[in-house]
Amino acid sequence: RTILVLHGPNLNLLGVREPEHYGSQTLEDIDRNLVKLATAQGHRLTTLQSNAEHVLVERIHAAMSDGTDFIIINPAAFTHTSVALRDALSAVRIPFVEVHLSNIHAREPFRRHSYFSDIAEGVVAGLGAHGYELALAYALAHSPAHQ
Ligand code: DQA
Repeated sequence: RTILVLHGPNLNLLGVREPEHYGSQTLEDIDRNLVKLATAQGHRLTTLQSNAEHVLVERIHAAMSDGTDFIIINPAAFTHTSVALRDALSAVRIPFVEVHLSNIHAREPFRRHSYFSDIAEGVVAGLGAHGYELALAYALAHSPAHQ
């Protein structure tokens, strides 16, 4: 199977940025671990972080024709703002899990609304980097077999 992991804006600063909310691991640490876990089980996993909405939208479009079976996405601040990213995920019809490092329900009220949760297979929030591993385990068990 081929899994695509997408990270939204400011997640390139992980490890430095508000560690009380987001932990001490860097995005590189998280991505490296996910690639290792997926490849050890015979799957492919690619990752992309972008601070630009259109880059994420276009990567989702490309996923329609590059064999991607499942998407794991932390839309970061776009969670609360982006109809465009939501529409891209609806358009490509690739199942996805929404991940947040922090518990978005235990923070400012504006973080409680997500443009993604109602169309996601599921949502993991508040479990730090471990949340990505849980989403990956789900993706490997439940994504439609592509190959
Ligand atoms: C986040 C939560 C968002 O509210 C925030 O804007 C982020 C990260 C998280 O992983 O906890 O950038 O998605």
